[in-house]
Amino acid sequence: MSNSYNIDPALLERFSSFKSKKSFLLSFEGIEGAGKSTQIIRFKDKLEQDGYDVLLVREPGGTVFGEHLREAILHSESPLDPIAEAHLFASSRAQLLFEKTLKHLERPNSVVIYDRYIDSSIAYQGVARGLGVEKILEIHAHAPLTTLPQKTFYIRISLECSLKRQAARNQEKDYFESENNNFYQKLIDGYDQAQQLFPQRFSIIDGEQDIDHVFSQICQAWESLLL
Ligand code: TYD
Repeated sequence: MSNSYNIDPALLERFSSFKSKKSFLLSFEGIEGAGKSTQIIRFKDKLEQDGYDVLLVREPGGTVFGEHLREAILHSESPLDPIAEAHLFASSRAQLLFEKTLKHLERPNSVVIYDRYIDSSIAYQGVARGLGVEKILEIHAHAPLTTLPQKTFYIRISLECSLKRQAARNQEKDYFESENNNFYQKLIDGYDQAQQLFPQRFSIIDGEQDIDHVFSQICQAWESLLL
């Protein structure tokens, strides 16, 4: 497989989407202000109405161990070295896969929805923190971390839109939310790189539309997965 980011093809080949026609591993991605949480809740309700057994998890976190790591990262009193950060996120991810996700997916008609997954590590630690996309893939190159979603809904908004929505929310900022505009622009670039490496898995959702329109784009992408 050739790619424009000079990632070792043998490394990329270690990754594959979760394979099943009866159960689904899905993820949502987006920068601050994309409207991810609102859409996830609505999508979960829809899937439950359609008869699926849905487990919604967030990263970092989702297990007792992962929630400890979440606290350690997002409320760290001193800036973390990017490689420490990347390993902590991957560690939380591996534990969640092992402890909950893969077991849940053994049941037919089950769905696990991730609020952030590996593409957050690619965008935040790989590109915005500067470790490089290849380093993130290397860190994830062992099972169960090589399991990718069948579909990733990337709710894409511009830097301007993110800043406007963050200002309107006027919330206290956590570890990443206090970063500057340059950091946010790198996140957008990082997600674009992830999308180019995994074009089939990614559905780009225009997050600047109104809530109903965004939701209908998500539903369309989901239905195309079922075809
Ligand atoms: P959270 O409060 O869950 O953010 P959001 O509501 O925006 O999803 O905090 C998670 C933060 O951690 C978020 O800023 C993105 C960051 N993050 C990474 O940097 N790398 C990762 O691999 C993951 C999963 C999250």
